[in-house]
Amino acid sequence: MNHPTQGHAAKHVRIPAVFVTGTDTCVGKTTVSAAILAILRAKGLDAVPMKPVQTGCRASRAGLVAPDLEFCLDACGIHPSPAEKTDMAPYRFRPACSPHLAARLAGRAVSIGLVARHFARLTERHDFVVVEGAGGVMVPIGGGKTMLDIMTRLAAPVILVARPGLGAINHCLLSLFTLRQSGLDVLGVVFNHAQPGRPGYIERNNRITVERSGHVPVMGSLPYLPHLDKLTRSPQAFSRWACRNLKIGENFCGEDCIRRDAPRSARRPRRKEQTSSCLSCSSW
Ligand SMILES: Nc1ncnc2c1ncn2[C@@H]1O[C@H](COP(=O)(O)OP(=O)(O)OP(=O)(O)O)[C@@H](O)[C@H]1O
Ligand SMILES: [Mg+2]
Repeated sequence: MNHPTQGHAAKHVRIPAVFVTGTDTCVGKTTVSAAILAILRAKGLDAVPMKPVQTGCRASRAGLVAPDLEFCLDACGIHPSPAEKTDMAPYRFRPACSPHLAARLAGRAVSIGLVARHFARLTERHDFVVVEGAGGVMVPIGGGKTMLDIMTRLAAPVILVARPGLGAINHCLLSLFTLRQSGLDVLGVVFNHAQPGRPGYIERNNRITVERSGHVPVMGSLPYLPHLDKLTRSPQAFSRWACRNLKIGENFCGEDCIRRDAPRSARRPRRKEQTSSCLSCSSW
């Protein structure tokens, strides 16, 4: 099997965003997205979340509430306007099922062009956008398209979230292979411990094996945290937890890459050569 270390998008203009995908549903994409946002915001960046397609929404008087978006906003203390929330979660469906089925049940179609327009608005207004996929890479969104088509359209570099235990190697390598085949750059893998239990020899070996066989850095590992929901009620406490447990420091060089004195529309991180793995300024 061919394992190119980076996809073909590597030489393209960088995008001030990262796409957080997973090896499966419920692996911890939202938790990791919120943690990345908290770390970037602790560095002083105006980083915001986006969930292009959300299923399992709750009905409210104001319309459908996107739980993953709300989790990230609450955890990081972000308070966008209703209009901006539409940019952040443009497609909301009530059934908790695959996007293709939820869209069909609602009699709607997911337009990748529309997702891209909302994404472009967010990148214009903010320093950085953390986009969370639905399920895994090959999840269908209808019309013969998958999450991968959204990812290739947005062209942001990817972080893959995985379970740490048995099965992770196969799931990670399959996902990495598919992402790179589509020309996407993978920044790294994050293992998330969504279940209680001490990591053992399998978890320790999985980390090394994924790194070596997948030719990918393991960016970190989020430990199991009982009462995670309670922590997100305090953005300061969540930020401390994220900064303590997810070390994306070496993948992000901080304020240097943002021209802070420029107006926001012109405030774009400068380009760098591929040698940098900075989340904000490398030319992926
Ligand atoms: N590190 C953790 N410690 C404790 N609980 C966790 C942790 N990570 C995730 N969870 C819990 O596991 C569940 C799934 O996590 P999460 O919502 O982040 O997954 P997901 O991949 O975003 O799921 P989806 O595919 O629905 O978007 C949630 O109930 C979350 O609170
Ligand atoms: Mg989620």
